[in-house]
Amino acid sequence: QLPHNVTIKEVGPRDGLQNEKEMIPTEDKIEWINHLSKTGLSYIEISSFVHPKWIPQLGDALEVAKGIKRNPEVTYATLVPNLKGLERALEADVDEVSIFMSASESHNKKNINKSIDETFPVLQEVVEGAKAENKSVRGYISTVFGCPYDGQVPIENVQKVCDQLFSMGIDELSIGDTIGVANPLQVQHVLETLSKDFPKDQLALHFHNTRGTALANVLTSLQLGFTTFDSALGGLGGCPYAKGASGNLATDDLLYMLKEMNIKTGINQDKLMQAGAFIQKKMDKPLPSHHMQIAYRG
Ligand code: HMG
Ligand code: MG
Repeated sequence: QLPHNVTIKEVGPRDGLQNEKEMIPTEDKIEWINHLSKTGLSYIEISSFVHPKWIPQLGDALEVAKGIKRNPEVTYATLVPNLKGLERALEADVDEVSIFMSASESHNKKNINKSIDETFPVLQEVVEGAKAENKSVRGYISTVFGCPYDGQVPIENVQKVCDQLFSMGIDELSIGDTIGVANPLQVQHVLETLSKDFPKDQLALHFHNTRGTALANVLTSLQLGFTTFDSALGGLGGCPYAKGASGNLATDDLLYMLKEMNIKTGINQDKLMQAGAFIQKKMDKPLPSHHMQIAYRG
């Protein structure tokens, strides 16, 4: 028995763009997000208030957040690594802030320049500061299914980080396959284990499709009753601080599969494809997803 409704959280403007070398003009990002806001998506992660030296492509996060036309039906979120980032996110008046860290020591260090234990108090402050301003907080845990530096990640390490993040009072936690190594059996094992300790309806899945297993992993998650998935339109994406990480699960490919299985998302496929065509044209290269290639090959 599969769920009847699924929430898709669009992370394209953040995860999708953060690894792009060619700088995309701020006004194109704004226009793309405005297109996305009209597709029926209920959630868009629009940028990142990380250090602009670490992620140059998203150095214009404040201009983007201030420039978009907000749809009241949409939650607009950004990544925030620390208090400095929170300050900027509050100035931008985003609806939700997303804190992030890894289950593996080496990726955490490479990505946010701290050990796992050093990261907890930094994120705790962000959660408290955000809650004080009535912002909801999402957490991300990366490298759950494998780390590009440490290899296999013991489930106990994953549980420890999940436990700490939920203790801070986050509203949702997104379980990340940062480098796209997960397979359905592993997903089943990890999700069955985590759902013993943490509320299923507060867990989301964040798959990258580096090795082509993302949709299979979604199906396994659906069969276990999980209903929230992160994806990026056109299959853009990747983390510059995780060697070999590429494309997120594509929103358009995910939507197709769900729609064909009669699972409702509230998203209009034609409008979504138009939003994909818009950014593909601006980026002047074919986007990697199957549906963008079918629709706009040539
Ligand atoms: P750091 O160098 O250790 O920072 O970087 P610091 O606290 O030592 O501060 C150094 C300087 O940076 C200071 O300036 C701060 O003010 C400034 P100075 O006093 O020297 O002039 N600074 C900032 N400026 C702007 N915004 C800020 C900020 N923070 C400090 N927020 C830091 C630590 C976390 C900032 C850095 O490592 C960083 O920005 N990392 C972000 C890396 C990143 O964005 N990675 C990709 C996102 S995660 C991902 O993709 C995975 C995910 O998709 C899930 C999955 O797939 O698994 C979410
Ligand atoms: Mg990611």
